[in-house]
Amino acid sequence: MTEKQLIASKLAAVLNDLDQETIEQLLEKPKNASMGDLAFPAFSLAKVLRKAPNLIAAEVAEQIDASDFEKVQAVGPYVNFFLDKSKISGQVLAEVVQHGSHYADQNLGQNRNIILDMSSPNIAKPFSIGHLRSTVIGDSLAYIVEKLGYNPVRINHLGDWGKQFGMLIVAYKKWGDQAAVEANPISELLKLYVRINAEAEEDPSLDDEARDWFRKLEADDEEAVSLWQWFRDESLVEFNRIYQGLAVDFDSYNGEAFYNDKMDEVIDLLEEKDLLQDSRGAQVINLEKYGIEHPAMIKKSDGATLYITRDLAAALYRKRTYDFAKSIYVVGNEQAAHFKQLKAVLKEMGYDWSDDMHHVAFGLVTKERKKLSTRKGNVILLEPTINEAVNRAQSQIDAKNPDLPNKEAIARAVGVGAIKFYDLKTDRTNGYDFDLDTMVSFEGETGPYVQYAHARIQSILRKADFKPNTEATYSLSDNESWEIIKLIQDFPRIIRRASDNYEPSIIAKFAINLAQSFNKYYAHTRILDDNPERDSRLALSYATATVLKEALRLLGVEAPNEM
Ligand code: ARG
Repeated sequence: MTEKQLIASKLAAVLNDLDQETIEQLLEKPKNASMGDLAFPAFSLAKVLRKAPNLIAAEVAEQIDASDFEKVQAVGPYVNFFLDKSKISGQVLAEVVQHGSHYADQNLGQNRNIILDMSSPNIAKPFSIGHLRSTVIGDSLAYIVEKLGYNPVRINHLGDWGKQFGMLIVAYKKWGDQAAVEANPISELLKLYVRINAEAEEDPSLDDEARDWFRKLEADDEEAVSLWQWFRDESLVEFNRIYQGLAVDFDSYNGEAFYNDKMDEVIDLLEEKDLLQDSRGAQVINLEKYGIEHPAMIKKSDGATLYITRDLAAALYRKRTYDFAKSIYVVGNEQAAHFKQLKAVLKEMGYDWSDDMHHVAFGLVTKERKKLSTRKGNVILLEPTINEAVNRAQSQIDAKNPDLPNKEAIARAVGVGAIKFYDLKTDRTNGYDFDLDTMVSFEGETGPYVQYAHARIQSILRKADFKPNTEATYSLSDNESWEIIKLIQDFPRIIRRASDNYEPSIIAKFAINLAQSFNKYYAHTRILDDNPERDSRLALSYATATVLKEALRLLGVEAPNEM
């Protein structure tokens, strides 16, 4: 129960004219802490009760059950509530001590599946910063829903099918070099792809050749399939290096090609339901009644299927295979129209579960405030960038803590964590400017700042040799610790909010707040000094570290014990 709910329930017991929810909305946070933690303004009742607000406030303060409060006081037209900090802090600390990293675990999901369609780069094309965002946001959402009792299924819907593979086969057979591709798969394959596209503009017969090869591929021709398989394997070697660096794993790499033999069923179903219309030889579905202007094209005039056809097959397959409670597509804003069409087609087919599909979109990343563009040379190459982040983390650690054991692993956790955290603390529909200096800084609202706060607390706990004790009674009542207690108490709700809004930034901002509040506390309080409150202060430190570490884990960010 939040403190608002607690207070509102007590008020509701004495106010017959207002329900608890209305009261919750009326409660205000006083500007000054000397006026209590929350205040109820009695104005709204003056009319109904035909009494002066001051009088009402006085009566309410008199009648209310004040057992959970330090005091309840009428001041003018307000009833001010002072929570019993000792009691509440005791409850909160006991709960964290009891559950450790499982504090705030919830069982909303009852182990039902949630699909995260995430990362999903295209074979033989560079892994873009958009794919990085999808990977990092998807991974975090997976941890968040898991904390709420769902079973996350991370699916990498690889872009491994389409006419471009015909192009690539033609180019490779003409100019390709096996050793070169094996040494640098993506950049070699991309070169071939760029060259064939350029030459096809001069010589359209290349297009025909490509179409033939793609047809062969679809027809399971041995040579076509083995080249395609090889392009895919080599690309995955490179992608997997990135995933390993990011410490992200997938449950499935079933991409577009996987649905090659599952599309006839989709077309059959659509025909059966009489949804397809002919449009100059192509098969389309009209979606005007969903407010969608452009019909969805399901089959081209040459019989080829499209991106959306494969996504329809994927949706059906996933519903059958996983019976998902939700299916989340973590894909950039620029594909919003595609996912609107996808959902609408499924709805039109009579599948109400399409309401459980959500496009979780995100904004663009810029560099030096300019749009990224391969053509203009404004690119972020992922692997070197991650390595650079790790190097910068390493040099800061060298300066701060030169004798640290295990420095390399910690620098990796900090460098990679910095990139992830920066991405995740941004409201996902906003973009951001990719600036390593800001990301890896130990100051400001960054991953390293939060990690450092956590590591510092661990060092305090080591010095004190503190072991949390489930039998002990911890309690605190000062204002600085109260800030922290309230945040920790709010953590379960924060996780639900992050999940409801598909917004890891809510967790990231919470982690920053908690780290800042603790640093403030640390500046005021000599935690290790001999003092009757020493154990409770240490318990508060322990609880803060536990929740910080857990918040970071939900973002896919490690929390080293030393740095
Ligand atoms: N491969 C696509 C791209 O790079 C993203 C795929 C997203 N997932 C999906 N089910 N359509 O743009």
